[in-house]
Amino acid sequence: MVVDPLIELRDVNKYYGGLHVLQDVNLTVAKGEVVVVIGPSGSGKSTLCRAINRLETIRSGTILLDGQPMPEEGKALARLRADVGMVFQSFNLFAHKTVLQNISLARIRVRGRRKDQADQCSRHILGRVGLADQADKFPARLSGGQQLGVPPRPFRRWGRVAIARALAMEPKALLFDEPTSALDPEMINEVLEVMRQLAREGMTMAVVTHEMGFARSAATRVVFMSDGRIVEDRAPEDFFTAPESQRARDFLSKILKH
Ligand SMILES: Nc1ncnc2c1ncn2[C@@H]1O[C@H](COP(=O)(O)OP(=O)(O)OP(=O)(O)O)[C@@H](O)[C@H]1O
Ligand SMILES: [Mg+2]
Repeated sequence: MVVDPLIELRDVNKYYGGLHVLQDVNLTVAKGEVVVVIGPSGSGKSTLCRAINRLETIRSGTILLDGQPMPEEGKALARLRADVGMVFQSFNLFAHKTVLQNISLARIRVRGRRKDQADQCSRHILGRVGLADQADKFPARLSGGQQLGVPPRPFRRWGRVAIARALAMEPKALLFDEPTSALDPEMINEVLEVMRQLAREGMTMAVVTHEMGFARSAATRVVFMSDGRIVEDRAPEDFFTAPESQRARDFLSKILKH
């Protein structure tokens, strides 16, 4: 039994036209839990994340955050949405603002903090993610080729900046949608390490990822989705050593070969 639920989805259904992308989804993430969501492409993992934050509407069902239903719109929604920080696959930072400014912005706008307070806190957060020395850098540094129309090289540490920006909202929980999939291989571990550290500090997290090592070592539960349904919701060791469904077995045999 879940003692202290922070995120709760009850019988959630969502359609894109005729496509039933979330089918009677029931999911609870308790305070301090790290729930890793895995499943084949198109199974509805991103839609699930976006629905939790009401970036997507749902057809039926209930989504509760800390016991409160998500408001439909307006200021109340903005506030509650800020309680669940999101770290996306491709995270847009403002290229013309420094890393520090990018992080403070969210805090000033959404939480109504004063700039000097926000900056102080942002520096602290940058320290937490190991980027204290990067505060005054710009997300996209100009590359030599830029005058020739080559896009600027993205800031190599954006993964951790994205996490810092989500943390700056003072969230109760963090949602990650494939936070490492667009990163250079050497940056992946840095991001996973920050995520592990947040988990140790007790941050509640739902993480869509293909990093099975992370799922095994950091998750309190693994949720396996297929065709819009939650097919398995289990302790990581149980899931990885003895998946119950054929679909999970097929998925694991494919992904673990790589
Ligand atoms: N805006 C949209 N309009 C119509 N269909 C959509 C839209 N977004 C997603 N879909 C469809 O909904 C289904 C679920 O998509 P979703 O992005 O949630 O899957 P996913 O599990 O995150 O996949 P991936 O692993 O590739 O990121 C897919 O069939 C997808 O094509
Ligand atoms: Mg996705």
